[in-house]
Amino acid sequence: MKIFSCDETRTALPFSRLIPALENMFNSDCSVPQRHIHAVGTNENPLTTLIMPAWSEAGLMGIKTVNIAPNNAKKSLPGLFSTYTLYDMATGEPVALVDGNEITSRRTAAASALAASFLARPNSSKLTLLGAGRVGGLIPYAYREVLPIDEVLVWDVNPLATERLIAQLNQDGIAARAATDLAQAVGWADVVSCATLSTEPLVKGDWLKPGSHLDLIGSFTPEMREADNSAIINASLFIDTPEALEKSGDLLQPLSTGALDPRSVIGTLEDLCRRKCRIRQSDREHTVFKAVGTALEDLAAASLVYQG
Ligand SMILES: NC(=O)c1ccc[n+]([C@@H]2O[C@H](COP(=O)([O-])OP(=O)(O)OC[C@H]3O[C@@H](n4cnc5c(N)ncnc54)[C@H](O)[C@@H]3O)[C@@H](O)[C@H]2O)c1
Repeated sequence: MKIFSCDETRTALPFSRLIPALENMFNSDCSVPQRHIHAVGTNENPLTTLIMPAWSEAGLMGIKTVNIAPNNAKKSLPGLFSTYTLYDMATGEPVALVDGNEITSRRTAAASALAASFLARPNSSKLTLLGAGRVGGLIPYAYREVLPIDEVLVWDVNPLATERLIAQLNQDGIAARAATDLAQAVGWADVVSCATLSTEPLVKGDWLKPGSHLDLIGSFTPEMREADNSAIINASLFIDTPEALEKSGDLLQPLSTGALDPRSVIGTLEDLCRRKCRIRQSDREHTVFKAVGTALEDLAAASLVYQG
């Protein structure tokens, strides 16, 4: 069995190859059963384990295991550990062990960029990024594979995270600066991408300029929100998978009051990749993509790492 470290996994997943690999997987016959969620820990040391399998016609099966241990912060350890095991589907033989954190953050940024390739205006050059963490930090790099992004504004509750990312982007030749006024930064952007842990709407629909694309990555529980109702309702709405309607507060909250009709969702990322739904229709249309992630994307990334 081959073992791919964090660095090897990162190097094996340039966005120029990962974005097309995701599109191919969305176009292939891939099985993604519901994830298992187990409360494994004790009251003293709570541990939640997620098990996310997927397999495809290409002959590989993979399982991502994610262990979330909230008490780890007190022990100066990361709160989440994740591994990805890839198997030969014909024999069941394990063929690769891949770093799960790298897989997750890179495939998430790549999926958002893939959606934006269908939904953002092709001349989008200004990106405002909310959340300068693991996923957010990759968004400018992923988006530059599909759009002519040449200016980035960064907003994060943690000024150190903002500064760190801006320095890194500038060093990599991407003009980036801190957003001082969130409303102005959102109104300035062609694309607004959110990868935060917010429980309050950060982006207001009234701030978005006509023709902008809003990418919502962070919210995966009913309590979490990154955008207000108006940003969602007054836009052409796309989701990564139907699970987004069951998990994300950005959709669940307007659904619960009747402000959002589930039938107003135009399509999923699979529909977009298979050209089964419409894409952006005009330069003034507001588009929204809400993602919660899928094991299909993990399998696409891990297969790319293994097969090179
Ligand atoms: N949709 C998906 O497929 C997918 C995949 C991975 C992660 N996620 C989610 O995306 C979010 C970000 O993940 P990550 O791995 O980058 O986390 P992270 O902890 O590395 O980064 C999160 C960043 O957001 C900032 N932040 C938190 N709350 C904020 C707020 N209210 N306003 C502005 N900034 C805020 C933090 O300071 C941090 O810099 C998480 O909610 C995570 O669960 C979604």
